[in-house]
Amino acid sequence: MLRNALPEMITKKLPGPKAAAIISRRADAVPTAVKCTYPIVIARGEGAMIEDVDGNRFVDWVGGVGVLNIGYSHPEVVEVVKAQTEKYFHGMFNIVTHEGYVALAEKLNGCTPVAGEKKKTYFANSGAEAVENAVKFAKAYTKRPNVIAFSGAFHGRTLLAMTLTSKKAYAAGMGPFPDGVYRAEFPYLYRKPVGISAEDTISYYISKLEEVFEQCSPANYVAAMVVEPVQGEGGFIPAPVEWIKAVRGICDKYGILLIADEVQTGFCRTGRLFASEYWSDAGVMPDIMATAKSIAAGIPLSAVVAREEIMESAPAGTIGGTYCGNPLACAAGLKVMEIMERDHLADRALEIGKTVSARYLSWKEKYSVVGDIRGLGAMLGIEFVKDKTTKEPYPEFVSRLVTEAAAHGLVIENAGIYGNVIRFLAPLVITDAQLEAGLDIFEAAIESCLCMSDTKDRRKFGAASH
Ligand SMILES: Cc1ncc(COP(=O)(O)O)c(C=O)c1O
Repeated sequence: MLRNALPEMITKKLPGPKAAAIISRRADAVPTAVKCTYPIVIARGEGAMIEDVDGNRFVDWVGGVGVLNIGYSHPEVVEVVKAQTEKYFHGMFNIVTHEGYVALAEKLNGCTPVAGEKKKTYFANSGAEAVENAVKFAKAYTKRPNVIAFSGAFHGRTLLAMTLTSKKAYAAGMGPFPDGVYRAEFPYLYRKPVGISAEDTISYYISKLEEVFEQCSPANYVAAMVVEPVQGEGGFIPAPVEWIKAVRGICDKYGILLIADEVQTGFCRTGRLFASEYWSDAGVMPDIMATAKSIAAGIPLSAVVAREEIMESAPAGTIGGTYCGNPLACAAGLKVMEIMERDHLADRALEIGKTVSARYLSWKEKYSVVGDIRGLGAMLGIEFVKDKTTKEPYPEFVSRLVTEAAAHGLVIENAGIYGNVIRFLAPLVITDAQLEAGLDIFEAAIESCLCMSDTKDRRKFGAASH
């Protein structure tokens, strides 16, 4: 069974003949702006494993970029979705109510760590839509026009989400962008300015944030700040808890709402159902949460959750969309939440995180190119540098690693503003043997890439990951 299988390569090189034919058709039929540098054409997926059309088997550490925390084709999710297809596929929620939407909203209202007693949930289709709607609710509630986002942030590819997103490789040529979005520096501690002591680090970043009020937008014009608890595309960088406490303090002082973008961090990835539960431990709660990705095991769905007074502030008709809260997706979402709780997937994320970070830390000692290891639970980044002292990013090495690992049956992807970080987002149902196999392939790839010359460098700094 693929679910319990180990990586195995059938073809001598990638892509194999069947995959190559489909990839060539893709190039003819689909714009290259939908970026994909992988030589893999999926035939089926189970658990943490992919089988391609040529029979090669890969262990997947990308998981659809954080969508498959529960794994590919979970049999119980397949069953409830099939059962829902027998009843109806679609019931536009602005026209007919379906119970799955209501039940999933009730479930999320009961377990999301956002401020307030009574909560309400709105469903959309994608992470970008969830973030956009979170901003819409914040504007409606505060009656203010502006938003603050952070360096390294990724919030999606719709116009507002692209504007909030920091890495402009994702928005090249797409301007002009909406007014009223301002950027402050995110605490990327590995790359904090030279000369700032450990004790002064948080106050340095907070002073940079406060500068925005002087130089860009007065605080009383700011509706919200949008923060990823662990920056994903930005390089798997956790927001330090002391920093988020100070950010919450500033929000409270000026009546600004704090939006947690848990699109990538949600649904057990970080060792809790939501990463902002770590914030609650420190007495901090966001006002609004946007989440998506692993919520429905791969069926498009996203959610915005906040206290009733915020969610009731948007006028009727300003929120909604034809497919939002699709019945198949809500059926999947309810089952995902049940399985995550029953099978303790948050605890499994902690275990996986321990295993992977122990191995990564040994590589940091051993290999000159491993600069930093960081993350939360099973959301881990490993940053590659040319020189540990100068910390010069080494994206060319990471590009080679991705290709080398795929050739041996491991799917990994880069991240980071310099494209020099490998992200760990493997499905949390990965078996111990598959995890070890992946780590072995990864380490062998590091060793063989260290032997290759830099003349093979391909990727430039600042490129989009996918
Ligand atoms: C933190 C975060 N926010 C928003 C998005 C956008 O989600 P989507 O691609 O579903 O629009 C992503 C996607 O990677 C993300 O990681």
